[in-house]
Amino acid sequence: MSLSLSAERQEPPAEAADGAWLECIECGDTFGPFDAVRYTCDDCDGLLEVRYTDLPTFEDFSGSGVWRYNAALPLESGVTIQEGATPLYRVPRLEDDVGVEALRIKHEGMNPTGSFKDRGMTVGVAVARELGVDRLACASTGNTSAALAAYGSRAGMQTLVLLPAGKVAAGKVAQASLHGARILEVDGNFDACLDVVQDLAARGEAYLLNSLNPFRLEGQKTIGLEILEAFLADYDAVPDRIVLPVGNAGNTAALYKAFRELVQSGALAREDVPKLTGVQAEGAAPMVEAVENDADEVRRWDDVETRATAIRIGNPVNAPKALPGIRETGGTAVSVSDEEITDAQRDLAGEGIGVEPASAASLAGLRKLRAEGVVDSDERVVCLTTGHLLKDPDAAAAAGNDPEPVPAETEGVLEHLQG
Ligand code: F0G
Repeated sequence: MSLSLSAERQEPPAEAADGAWLECIECGDTFGPFDAVRYTCDDCDGLLEVRYTDLPTFEDFSGSGVWRYNAALPLESGVTIQEGATPLYRVPRLEDDVGVEALRIKHEGMNPTGSFKDRGMTVGVAVARELGVDRLACASTGNTSAALAAYGSRAGMQTLVLLPAGKVAAGKVAQASLHGARILEVDGNFDACLDVVQDLAARGEAYLLNSLNPFRLEGQKTIGLEILEAFLADYDAVPDRIVLPVGNAGNTAALYKAFRELVQSGALAREDVPKLTGVQAEGAAPMVEAVENDADEVRRWDDVETRATAIRIGNPVNAPKALPGIRETGGTAVSVSDEEITDAQRDLAGEGIGVEPASAASLAGLRKLRAEGVVDSDERVVCLTTGHLLKDPDAAAAAGNDPEPVPAETEGVLEHLQG
């Protein structure tokens, strides 16, 4: 199977350009990387992946940020706002409290627009330029739209974003707005927005930059590469497990691809690949359902709800790429309640790390799996926090302390503090 960790290195097909091509994960059909606008397989509509003749080892990387890893990417350079190179925080108190050998937080909220989406957009928007398209579009729970708007404006291109009305956090709408996107508020949920934008893209109205776009996931692979390099430097080993929030499962698919490619290049032993562990909110957990039932396909949930609006998604389009990743790495998937998410958001804030609710799902999931004994005490774990606290100021204010009104004089303030 092509998405297996034991897949062999491939000979390039005739369509390859500069050692890269697109390949359907379902039927194996191959296409040139930049010869036409295409998101899925022409023949069977399966998901596409970028494949390479030469796969890099750690020695092939130099520089900083996403483009440090250009040996693993389809282009040498992209439309950049200095994305990547995010912190991998130590959290000693949380580590003790959760009860694992090591716990590190990879805070993707420290990217230019405050989420991991920037890593995908620096590549995806550059590919759009390569293809010569002029209008970019996405459906979004917010972060993708903020990143698309910023990278699109940087590239001088028009951007169109479709958002589920009333369900996108304030910071994200503000970003899309100021960076100049046309914001279409759709009377429906994220999955409905994605259906519409896919139709628009199919009719040639815009270039689609959701994670269905295989080039975006190439950029997101660099999260995994950064984590592995940092771990090798600090522990002389890679992490046992990476825990991440799941919506469309693009990131899960991207990390798995990064690890598969390192195994194929000989840079990573198959048995060392970190266990990919996905976390969803209870009210939007179709991937968890599929993993628990050992199902090959994910059932679309039509009604989804969670405070973690970024992952309020019922139809994870990258499931065919992500499910093998969770299974082949020996990982799992778990769902958490909104209360557990908010508790974890407070826990991270208590270590000085400000994240939006969806991001805190990773820590909430780790806690749950540790309590259930699925995660062992001797594991070294990374939790991915995908977006910054300021993305969703309302959720942060609701989870945190309330402001206390005081008079504008010292005696009154002291009195209040003593009261
Ligand atoms: N965390 C945050 C903060 C997100 O914004 C998203 C996805 C995810 C996790 C899930 O990542 O889809 O790769 O599994 N947000 C998309 C958006 C859907 O439109 O911003 P995934």
